[in-house]
Amino acid sequence: MARETKRRSNGRRSPWAAAALIGIGLLITGGVYAGASAAMASSADTSVSTALTAEDGKKLFQANCATCHGLDLQGSSTGPSLFGVGELAVEFQVATGRMPLQASAPQAPQKPPQFTEEQILAIAAYVQSMAPGPVFPAEETIDGQGDVARGAELFRVNCAMCHNVAAAGGALTEGKYAPALGKTSALHMYAAMVTGPQNMPVFNDMTLTTEDKRDIISSLLFLQQNESPGGFSLGSLGPVSEGLFIWIFGIGSLIAITVWITAKSN
Ligand code: HEC
Ligand code: HEC
Repeated sequence: MARETKRRSNGRRSPWAAAALIGIGLLITGGVYAGASAAMASSADTSVSTALTAEDGKKLFQANCATCHGLDLQGSSTGPSLFGVGELAVEFQVATGRMPLQASAPQAPQKPPQFTEEQILAIAAYVQSMAPGPVFPAEETIDGQGDVARGAELFRVNCAMCHNVAAAGGALTEGKYAPALGKTSALHMYAAMVTGPQNMPVFNDMTLTTEDKRDIISSLLFLQQNESPGGFSLGSLGPVSEGLFIWIFGIGSLIAITVWITAKSN
């Protein structure tokens, strides 16, 4: 009898019991934490999507943009007026991280965006409410289902002189550059054409119809989704980089062979 109780109490203190206890403890804490954070996340989501209005956008604008663009969008010595640039220009500039500008440079560089999508849309709504300008496109315009071949043709005629035929980007004068378009979203392609950031011309509906823009966007998206099948693209710079490649490696190996042959004959 006494032995039996002793064995039982021994059993309770076996290493397995401790491990099981710790396991159960971990499971409970983990479960509660996961449940709580999921609940927090869902409540945070609903509060953000309903809370931000043009009024919040006004506050964000006054805190982050007004020093350069003026309290009434009138502009200042450090930033242009934003009359008539519209919500699309604001979305483009802020979502690509160009704005707020941090240091004066020949061209506003892209950086990770400093605001959430909701905040950006709120600032855009505020600017649009003060002085309307180009608006967001219809879903169909940026769906990438247009005529890819026609879009590539239009791109070569209208855009390739700055952005390169393969949209790999190119240098412009005075330290400015047309960026590579390999990572740009469809919305920002449309926005760039309609608002003409910085040195880029505005392509309004007289120069390129909505259908033309849809085709160009489709061809750029096609380029993004289809890597070059021919191995090394050499930067897609065309004859310059290919000529340089042959110049250095082709002529280089010819010289090497000549040196080798003469060394043999000696
Ligand atoms: C340090 C000064 C500065 C700050 C801060 C700043 N900007 Fe700008 N912004 C500029 C300058 C300079 C340009 C024009 C240069 C360029 O486009 O490269 C510009 C251009 C723009 C344009 C394009 C205008 C056009 O004609 O297409 C928009 C839109 C814009 N800013 C919005 C904003 C918003 C929104 C904020 C706040 C989140 C902001 N900016 C903060 C200096 C500033
Ligand atoms: C005169 C030269 C020029 C031409 C022509 C031109 N662009 Fe641009 N493009 C630029 C410059 C410069 C920028 C960068 C502006 C900035 O950073 O503020 C730019 C920016 C862009 C961007 C934004 C890229 C990004 O990652 O944010 C897109 C998209 C774009 N261009 C598409 C086009 C398309 C499509 C065409 C033809 C319909 C075109 N561009 C014609 C000079 C040009």
